[in-house]
Amino acid sequence: MEEKEIKILAIESSCDETAAAVVVNGRRVLSNVIFSQIDLHKLYGGVVPEIASRKHIEKINQVIQEALDQADTTLDDLDAIAVTYGPGLVGALLVGVSAAKAISFAKKLPLIGVHHIEGHISANYIENPQLTPPFACLVVSGGHTHLVNVKDYGVYEVLGQTRDDAAGEAFDKVARAIGLGYPGGPKIDKVSNEGNPDAIQFPRGHVGGSEYDFSFSGLKSAVLNYLNGCKMKGEPIVVPDVAASFQKAVVDVLVSHAMTACKEYGFRKLAIAGGVASNAHLRAAMEEACKKRNIAFYRPSPILCTDNAAMIGAAAYYEYIRGVRSGLDLNAVPNLKLGER
Ligand code: KG4
Ligand code: ZN
Repeated sequence: MEEKEIKILAIESSCDETAAAVVVNGRRVLSNVIFSQIDLHKLYGGVVPEIASRKHIEKINQVIQEALDQADTTLDDLDAIAVTYGPGLVGALLVGVSAAKAISFAKKLPLIGVHHIEGHISANYIENPQLTPPFACLVVSGGHTHLVNVKDYGVYEVLGQTRDDAAGEAFDKVARAIGLGYPGGPKIDKVSNEGNPDAIQFPRGHVGGSEYDFSFSGLKSAVLNYLNGCKMKGEPIVVPDVAASFQKAVVDVLVSHAMTACKEYGFRKLAIAGGVASNAHLRAAMEEACKKRNIAFYRPSPILCTDNAAMIGAAAYYEYIRGVRSGLDLNAVPNLKLGER
């Protein structure tokens, strides 16, 4: 018997991307439209929440229409509507949540509120039809650094998280300090190809009391101190060396925590997700570490690592078949915890 097709329109607006996608059965992406606001926020060196919300309002209907058109779909062909409702910027989230609720009400479609990190994790399902829980997932983005035990679809245990800055935040702050601009991650990734990762020994941040928690603020301070020291001594700053050495310190910690978790918990599969998961050096280092230990390694294509709505559609499908539905009282929850409803 043929499996019934569940077609979901998903919306994502938690930060500075206005995105909509149509996804079938959580894994087949019919469209994935992303309007990035990066050029607008670049001027300010980071995301300005008020500007983000205003731009989402301007773009959301166009982006949704584009996603439907590219998928050759209308609102009448949908089985459900999904939307990121947290965590994220409250004003930005509200735009997506309001649009989704309006469509759900007008078209009498089931509404599914999705956790942004659950979306990032689920991005791995899209290109890997064979990937099923349980597995470990390292989520590294501008706002989050989480090591997660994905026990089943929609069932998560957070093993560790950052105590201060997120990995992407550290990339952005260090990039700004060495004059690379915003967003810093992709720029550090690129410039470090010309640098020596062993030129400067930056600290590998370990947190007392937890094998899985992360801390990046000490590393960030070490880079700033190093830069100040160079200026005071009149020594030249070799930007590619600083970038490559900083990046190696981040990658080393991410890989070592993930490998410890695989060993302790016996995971045979490891996935990475989030904007920082598009980092070429992290991808290569994690792949090698997994290969050595015979662990299957999964990572989404870069376009599915950074914020997008296809990943929300993938997560929403599994919530849909588990019977999860949100009411029209769904609200934006800026600090929503993974696994909470
Ligand atoms: O997942 P994402 O698009 O948004 C959040 O949920 O935060 O992640 C954005 C973050 C930014 O901090 C950006 O600098 C970082 O991901 N990023 C990267 C790379 N591409 C994006 N960091 C390191 N290397 C990259 N290639
Ligand atoms: Zn994100």
